[in-house]
Amino acid sequence: MKAIIPAAGLGTRFLPATKTIAKEMLPVLSKPTIQYVVEEALGAQADEVIIVNSEQKKSIEEYFSPNPDLVSMLDGANKSSYAREVEHAGSLPVSFVLQPEALGLGHAVMMASDNVLSAKDGAEPFYVLLGDVLVPDNTILPRMLEISKEHNGASVIAVYQVPHDQVNRFGVISGSAIEDDVWKVTGLVEKPPIEEAPTDLAIFGRYLLSPRIMELLATTAPGAGGEIQLTDAMIELLKTEEMYALVIDGSEGFDVGTIESWLTTSISLAMRDEKLRKTIFETFHHK
Ligand code: UTP
Repeated sequence: MKAIIPAAGLGTRFLPATKTIAKEMLPVLSKPTIQYVVEEALGAQADEVIIVNSEQKKSIEEYFSPNPDLVSMLDGANKSSYAREVEHAGSLPVSFVLQPEALGLGHAVMMASDNVLSAKDGAEPFYVLLGDVLVPDNTILPRMLEISKEHNGASVIAVYQVPHDQVNRFGVISGSAIEDDVWKVTGLVEKPPIEEAPTDLAIFGRYLLSPRIMELLATTAPGAGGEIQLTDAMIELLKTEEMYALVIDGSEGFDVGTIESWLTTSISLAMRDEKLRKTIFETFHHK
């Protein structure tokens, strides 16, 4: 199964850091965000991970390349645990396609069209994982895969409950619950006015999509913000295929797209680590 990780965006909301550092390379604890994302896909039965990258973000490609000189230097200096970490990052099975210009999430996904449609066993559903959103416990994709299998390979998206007064910032679904945490999707709307939002269930950055979406993306015109929107192609997909939504708990995922969310993500993961938790308490206890 293939997984596509779009990582070619401009990262405007995290400037000036993202002037030269790819947003997806911002570390959360000791690893860059995108490494969590790659490991999540591999842990959910993906056997091929395709990162959609831009010419300006070559550091992502360098990070996932082997660096035998650094490894032997670390081994020689008795720093073998670092050596193993470096070796591991350079051995993850990722490949790259280029998005020449940041024309939107839908456009980024479309850049991996050949990889999805030319599969030798026939095109099959594939994952899309936003490169700036991490799910450290990998609790979402396996459940999405199960739902897809129960419904003949239908598309499944992850959604989460957002505060009603903020619903106009998100892509929102309409439909009806068929199980406690599973909805059958009947409509999608990008950034609806609050009073018109059909639900408060917003699309989260994990998708399991029918390969047909690639054909639809090829004819999707630029939408909101002049960008080719994945949501617009999904609206078309709904006309001919079933789609389901898994309702997740918002606390299952973390995003690093803004200083606030990156900080919250870093602190949340640090609090799960005994040594770092102790450091935080000792540092801030008296303040
Ligand atoms: P975002 O909208 O969160 O990222 O896209 P962005 O556009 O980089 O951020 P801002 O709004 O300018 O601050 C979610 C994911 O999709 C990728 C981004 O790199 C990010 O990982 N993306 C977005 C692309 O690969 N190409 C695009 O054209 C847009």
